[in-house]
Amino acid sequence: MSNIIAIDGPSGAGKSSVSRIVGERLGYLHVDSGALYRIMTWQSLVHGVDLESPAAIAAFAETVDIECRPEAGHIAYYVGGEAPGDRIRTPEINANASKVAREKPVRDKVTAILKGMTRFGNLVVEGRDITTAVFPDTPARFYLTASAEARAVRRQKEEVEKGIANQTAEAVKASLLARDAIDSTRKYAPLRKADGALEIDSSDLTLEEVVETVMKALPAEWIAS
Ligand code: DC
Repeated sequence: MSNIIAIDGPSGAGKSSVSRIVGERLGYLHVDSGALYRIMTWQSLVHGVDLESPAAIAAFAETVDIECRPEAGHIAYYVGGEAPGDRIRTPEINANASKVAREKPVRDKVTAILKGMTRFGNLVVEGRDITTAVFPDTPARFYLTASAEARAVRRQKEEVEKGIANQTAEAVKASLLARDAIDSTRKYAPLRKADGALEIDSSDLTLEEVVETVMKALPAEWIAS
C-alpha cells in the first residue's frame, strides 16, 4: 500500500513548493491535482466548450484523455502526447478553472485519475479536496493557508518570474479570491479544512519552516523507511 501525504489549501498558500520539497526529501512523487483541473479547462477552451453550460462541460470532460507518467520526482501529464506546460498557467485559465472544477463529472474523472496514481508508489498530493474526498483516510493530512495578501504577493512574483503574466498584486489578489470563493462554496467537494487535518498558516513562516512542520507531523515510520 502506498503512503499518501495530502495537502489542501487555497491558491498561493505554498502547497506546490512545500509538496515538491517534502517529496524530494522522502523520495515520494509529487502530484499536482490542480494541473488536472487546469488541463480540463484548457482543453475545454481549445475546443470551444461553452463554460456557462454545465451539460457541455460534462459531455466534453468525458472525451479528454490525460496520460500520467512518473518523471523526475513528479507525475507528468500529457494530452495527445504533448505536455501542456505554461499553457495551463495563464490568467485565462486562472479565471475559468473553478467553473470547470465545480462540475461533478469533471471531479469524478479527476478523482479517479488521482486514486489510480497509487500504482506509482508513495505520493505527496496537493489540491483542494485531497484530505476530504480523494484520500480522506491517510494519516498525513494538512491544510496549508496564508493571508490573502501573502498569497497574492507570492503568486504575482511567480507569474513575473516565469514570464507568464505581468499583473499587479491587486489584480492577482482579486483573481485568486474569486477562484477561492467558487472553490469553497461549490456543491461537490468544496475546499475546507478536513477534521483532523493539521492546519499550517504560512503567512509568517519560511518555506523551510513549513516543510519542517509537515515532516515532523508525519508517521515516524514514514521518515525512517
Ligand atoms: O491549485 P490550482 O490553482 O492549480 O487549481 C486550479 C483549479 O482547480 C482551482 O480552481 C482549484 C481547482 N482544484 C480543485 O477543485 N480540486 C483540487 N483537488 C485541485 C484544484
